Amino acid sequence: MKITAQELRVKYLNFFKSKGHTIIPSASLVPENDSSVLFTTAGMHPLVPYLLGQQHPGGRRVTNVQKCIRTGDIDEVGDDTHLTFFEMLGNWSFGDYFKEDAIKWSFGFLTSKEYLNLPLERLAFSVFSGDNDAPRDEEAAGIWRSLGVPESRIAYLPKDDNWWIAGNTGPCGPDTEMFYWIDDGTPAPENFQDTHHDKRWVEIWNDVFMQFEKQADGKLIPLKQQNVDTGMGLDRTLAVLNGQSSVYDTELFSEMWEVIELDQQIMTNDEVRKARIVLDHIRAAVFIVTDGVEPSNKDRGYVLRRLLRRAMVMGRLLNLKHHWLESLMGKVAATYVQAYPPVVEKSENTFKVILAEQQKFEKTLEKGLKEFEKLIKNHSDVGASFSRPPYPSEQRHNPLDEAGRLKAAPAIMGLTGKDAFDLYQTYGFPWELTKELAEQTGQQIDKTEFEEEFKKHQELSRTASAGQFKGGLASHSEKIVRYHTATHLMNAALRKVLGDHVWQKGSNITEERTRFDFTHDKKMTPEEIYQVEVAVNDWIARDLPVKKDILPLEEARKLGAIGVFGAKYPDQVSVYTISDPKTSEIISREFCGGPHVEHTGTIGKFKIQKEEASSAGVRRIKAIIE
Ligand code: ALA
Repeated sequence: MKITAQELRVKYLNFFKSKGHTIIPSASLVPENDSSVLFTTAGMHPLVPYLLGQQHPGGRRVTNVQKCIRTGDIDEVGDDTHLTFFEMLGNWSFGDYFKEDAIKWSFGFLTSKEYLNLPLERLAFSVFSGDNDAPRDEEAAGIWRSLGVPESRIAYLPKDDNWWIAGNTGPCGPDTEMFYWIDDGTPAPENFQDTHHDKRWVEIWNDVFMQFEKQADGKLIPLKQQNVDTGMGLDRTLAVLNGQSSVYDTELFSEMWEVIELDQQIMTNDEVRKARIVLDHIRAAVFIVTDGVEPSNKDRGYVLRRLLRRAMVMGRLLNLKHHWLESLMGKVAATYVQAYPPVVEKSENTFKVILAEQQKFEKTLEKGLKEFEKLIKNHSDVGASFSRPPYPSEQRHNPLDEAGRLKAAPAIMGLTGKDAFDLYQTYGFPWELTKELAEQTGQQIDKTEFEEEFKKHQELSRTASAGQFKGGLASHSEKIVRYHTATHLMNAALRKVLGDHVWQKGSNITEERTRFDFTHDKKMTPEEIYQVEVAVNDWIARDLPVKKDILPLEEARKLGAIGVFGAKYPDQVSVYTISDPKTSEIISREFCGGPHVEHTGTIGKFKIQKEEASSAGVRRIKAIIE
């Protein structure tokens, strides 16, 4: 091995220390004082206040290795370069040095003999091609050229590629990215502009020139200082430095591969992908739990739960041996003992939390399998002389056989992609699991249909949660959907009865009730409560249509759509409107990802059970539908 992960970390930090940077520790994966994201997704994340002008105790130049979690690319995890958890090497200037030094130092670290010693022939660079917000970055290109980079290895790319922002709002600016042509025996192509999409060009580093702040209304305002924010992916850089074509081939995963005990040489591509997902997700989960998160059906806990469940299913499909999960967690701890001692110090608790989730999931798996059987029953032609084999539940209770493999499923009569999605949505059955179950009886399910449903759901989650990952296992049952719409009506009724100072602060919906927090500084009188109930039940009785539109944020605001108090929304939002077609009266219009009922008449009877104080100036209602 040419360089180890620890050597790379130390080299990077020392290089920037020699350029006057203070080395600061990695922040937690759980962002502090920032509810706009679930996890720390980049090194700059915990540093936002300093990019905006606050003084950092370490001065105006800092550097570190930051633990990050990104779930946006989760479908690509398992290819050669994508990971959920990764480490980012970074250096920052808070209103101190700018393009010239940032680029010179990046070039120096990449190419100088004492540091990475990468050959210039295999390097390429991209800069921002310019638009109304910022000009074509001739300055950055000129600096690269002055260092000896040929013009042909500089690509000018638009915002999609060369503009960086964490989420939808906050500090941002044009960037310049550095690419390395992986060693596959072919020389790197001369012209980068035409070949930058080739996957063999691996992006290893990004220097962002943060000069703007993007506001919620989409406007860019200049920051009071010019900053530099850089990020180099440790796993990727380690792979290219050691001539490995995938991040999963680095030493960071080598111990974990031992647990998989499968020979990559003879595994199918699909099996390799599944195994990589197991390694990635368990590594990520260990780090997330170490930083204090536990699996749940909400926010961070839900992301963690999904990662774990997906890994567990993949583990089953790969037929990993007994106790593979414990062994794998042990290997993660061993791999990171030096760089992140808490991973070992807190391992007892981490293992306990993850193993408890495994036990729980086995139960969900069982329930999901029953649902799977039900679906098959519904779809099968019961009247015909179709003699089916006994369903697993009729045979034995455990969905897994002695070897831990899923037991054979019965014959499937036309299970649809939508069914597969419902299983995914409600029981956390990933596509692979449903497909595998189906295939055991030689049946195919339409993946396109599954993907369409999936996309629809993703869009809803995105618009609903403004950058946050929402949704929940079993959260879209028919009852819950009715509660969702009832909650919109209640919000509208509260505004009607109490006034427009009422804003939603939060809500929580279960199969049993809706809980709604809103701004109002007095206890509601029994009369007010009664009026709210009457209004909601009247709208329900009128069987009003519920309509969904996807609109630009501005337009939605102009139409009077309301949302959660203080929440940030993306540029495109989905809006649900409940109106009376006879009078054209708009009863309710809210930013929301849904889903909702199509007509209010299906909601049932609405009743407020409790009204109480939640916090200063905020009241809480619990209501039911019968
Ligand atoms: N914040 C920049 C990135 O994550 C450096 O790419």
